[in-house]
Amino acid sequence: MTTLGSAGLLINNDFMKMLDVYYMYPIALKNGKGLELLDENNKKYLDFYGGHGVISIGHSHPDFVEAVTQQLNALAFYSNAFQNPLQNELAELLGHQSGYHGYHLFLSNSGAEANENALKAASMITGRKKILAVKGAFHGRSAGAVAVTDNVKIRAAFGSQLEVDFIPIDSLTGLYNQLITKEYAAFIIEGIQGVNGVWEADSEYWKLARLLCTQTGTVFIADEIQSGYGRTGEFFAHQHYGVVADIITTGKGMGNGFPVAGTLFHPSLKLGQGMLGTTFGGGQLACASAIAVLKVIENEQLLSHARQMGEFLLKKVNELPLVTAVRGRGLMIGINFSISGKRVRQLLLDDFGIITGFSDPDTLRILPPLTLTLEDCERLIEALRKTLTKEMLTSKEQKAGTLQT
Ligand SMILES: Cc1ncc(COP(=O)(O)O)c(C=O)c1O
Repeated sequence: MTTLGSAGLLINNDFMKMLDVYYMYPIALKNGKGLELLDENNKKYLDFYGGHGVISIGHSHPDFVEAVTQQLNALAFYSNAFQNPLQNELAELLGHQSGYHGYHLFLSNSGAEANENALKAASMITGRKKILAVKGAFHGRSAGAVAVTDNVKIRAAFGSQLEVDFIPIDSLTGLYNQLITKEYAAFIIEGIQGVNGVWEADSEYWKLARLLCTQTGTVFIADEIQSGYGRTGEFFAHQHYGVVADIITTGKGMGNGFPVAGTLFHPSLKLGQGMLGTTFGGGQLACASAIAVLKVIENEQLLSHARQMGEFLLKKVNELPLVTAVRGRGLMIGINFSISGKRVRQLLLDDFGIITGFSDPDTLRILPPLTLTLEDCERLIEALRKTLTKEMLTSKEQKAGTLQT
């Protein structure tokens, strides 16, 4: 309803509402511990989605809660105008645990920003403006990140002047023909494509890309925002192929729910003061969260744990009925069925309180916290087995019914 205010201005008395841009379940979660979540009606859920691959060390991990609480009581934030020793501690730990010793870390707040800074920096350094990206890629929703994302539905005319070429993830010839031209500032590729349904380039593709980037002076950017931080059993997924990237971007699991992202630069990639910057990037709370995550990953040996749990899941999923394809590594798994994956996801939620993820076209996506137990894995497999067996029997009965009538 609109009324006339005292200063003669029209006032809209409706309540402000959220912009309705997300597909949401009609469930509000209020508590989390490990993999277990509780909704406002105290119904329990088991989290095999990690809030989109964000919860790396489990909900409310005690070390995380303690570190963040201590930092909150000391100093929540001060800007990059002053020294922040926590940033150095985080960079040191990250270099040590990822094997990217000597790299330089730029901190920001989201995956899109990490990629935006990587792409911009590559262009600043090479003086080139075109980017080479991979078909099916998702790199975020800011102008540069969305331009290298292979989905026209989420692009706007604004930013459409950015020059990007897309190549298939499985064609060495396609890769060679484009990258050999020396026209690209950067080649950007996800460690494993997540939003596209868990697809990875093979080892030869990664090695050829590395070779050509070096030969042509193209910056090699590995987007590890979803596949990084131990999720696949290596610190970064591209390390399975034995290649080294010039720039690596991280986000999601880095802060276990606290918004923090990073862009790691090879030391030869020089940027002058003032060339990159952000107000919130690398604030004290963000650093405390990210440090706590790295310490837990190391203390609890979550890389090897993710590998073991992933091997178990991949083996067991492959034995289930109606499964037509299983892809992935460690705890980043995509599953296709001969029935709708969306339906399987809904049944897991409705009948077993198990939360999973989804990717078009019709892939069930598993991105649990790395701290999950064998028992959690068995619960998922048992729920899938029951769901798929029931669906298979129902379909058989329906078919038999159709034949009889
Ligand atoms: C591989 C990859 N890159 C970038 C992003 C964007 O991250 P954010 O949503 O934090 O901006 C995502 C998010 O899903 C992602 O999966």
